[in-house]
Amino acid sequence: MSALFQPLQTGGVTLENRIVVSPMCQYSAVEGLAQPWHLIHIGGLMLSGAGLVIMEATATEAAGRITHGCLGLYNHEHEAALASLVSETKKLSSAALGIQIGHAGRRASCRPVKDRNKGESLPPEEGAWQTFGPSAFGVDETWHVPKEMDADDIARVTQSFADAAQRADRAGFDVLEVHAAHGYLLHQFLSPVTNHRTDAYGGSTENRMRFPLEVVRAVRKVWPKDKALGVRVNSTDWHPEGQSIDEAVAFAQQLEAAGVDYVVMSAGNLAPGTQIPPATPGHQVDFATLVKKHTGLVSMAVGLIATPELAEEIVSEDKADLVAIGRAMLDNPRWGLHAAARLGVDVDYPPQYLRARPNNWLGFPLVHPDAQPVEATRQIDRPASSGGWDRPDINTASGR
Ligand SMILES: Cc1cc2nc3c(=O)[nH]c(=O)nc-3n(C[C@H](O)[C@H](O)[C@H](O)COP(=O)(O)O)c2cc1C
Repeated sequence: MSALFQPLQTGGVTLENRIVVSPMCQYSAVEGLAQPWHLIHIGGLMLSGAGLVIMEATATEAAGRITHGCLGLYNHEHEAALASLVSETKKLSSAALGIQIGHAGRRASCRPVKDRNKGESLPPEEGAWQTFGPSAFGVDETWHVPKEMDADDIARVTQSFADAAQRADRAGFDVLEVHAAHGYLLHQFLSPVTNHRTDAYGGSTENRMRFPLEVVRAVRKVWPKDKALGVRVNSTDWHPEGQSIDEAVAFAQQLEAAGVDYVVMSAGNLAPGTQIPPATPGHQVDFATLVKKHTGLVSMAVGLIATPELAEEIVSEDKADLVAIGRAMLDNPRWGLHAAARLGVDVDYPPQYLRARPNNWLGFPLVHPDAQPVEATRQIDRPASSGGWDRPDINTASGR
């Protein structure tokens, strides 16, 4: 019996299995608006076999976009475009659909990141805009200097998160994830590397958590209880002066108290000086396990979880409740369906693709030699009793 394919409830949402498509920026929006690309991309991922698909980091105000190509949720047009995408893609499968909302802070107004460690500030002639941050210094000397956020900025951005949450709710998303990791605004407040404030929002751990917690509480107030609310946390900055894992766990405990349903424990990507150790399979899973130990939150692991066997091990050994899969899903948008076959689990296929399911196509074990024969328990286009891989009459080159 596969643990990966057991259902799980988080908040008011029951996920069919433990596989999550991690949010991934596409840099393909126009003025913050979702495009046909997003429909195709998310549509494909809704057919991946994952229990939950989370759309990319989506800005809560224009100044919070990382690039000109980032999605936004700060006006009615953005909401309408996403509502249409949700309505179309939710017809494709029973996967839950979520969206991540965030604000890039001092890392806004840049070019799409080609090298993952090196964004580039936009020059004025490419439409650079005023950025905001906890303190008035840039990522390095080549980056924009952000405006240090005053009380009005803090109130405005907090409200922008709550407004975006309401828009995401009206658009029909089941799950909302607040981005508090990867060197973006909420993480910039959390980390002593980027937060040099001397007011109530800087200094002690408690003070650095204040703004992100205010944002999460504002979102919690408007996000329905019968949906699910998560937060992406930076477990460690991997920086000598950065936020520690103990602080990240303390933050997760505060998130639990604020009514959050799950956290996803990511890491790194803050500022020059970050020393990310060489990634090995599942290299961030221990952080998710710590959250399971110290909180009652649903805990999601992420980071180089690329094989079904590793995903199964993480869930079956109770190291995390959910596994988020990023690049492996870009590589293979049927990752979850193939994982089921590798683990001997029968899952629903889209009716249009029934002829390619494991027990219905002679080619399947040729393409996936590691697949286990799956006993069909669900609908296929011929009764399971009529045969499987070894039925030449079904498995002809031309079909029926
Ligand atoms: C193209 C791309 C875009 C990404 N965009 C986001 C994002 O919008 N929000 C986020 O929290 N993480 C983002 N990430 C990080 C992934 O969600 C994930 O944490 C990371 O890729 C590690 O998981 P993986 O090894 O399974 O790919 C992105 C990663 C990639 C490859």
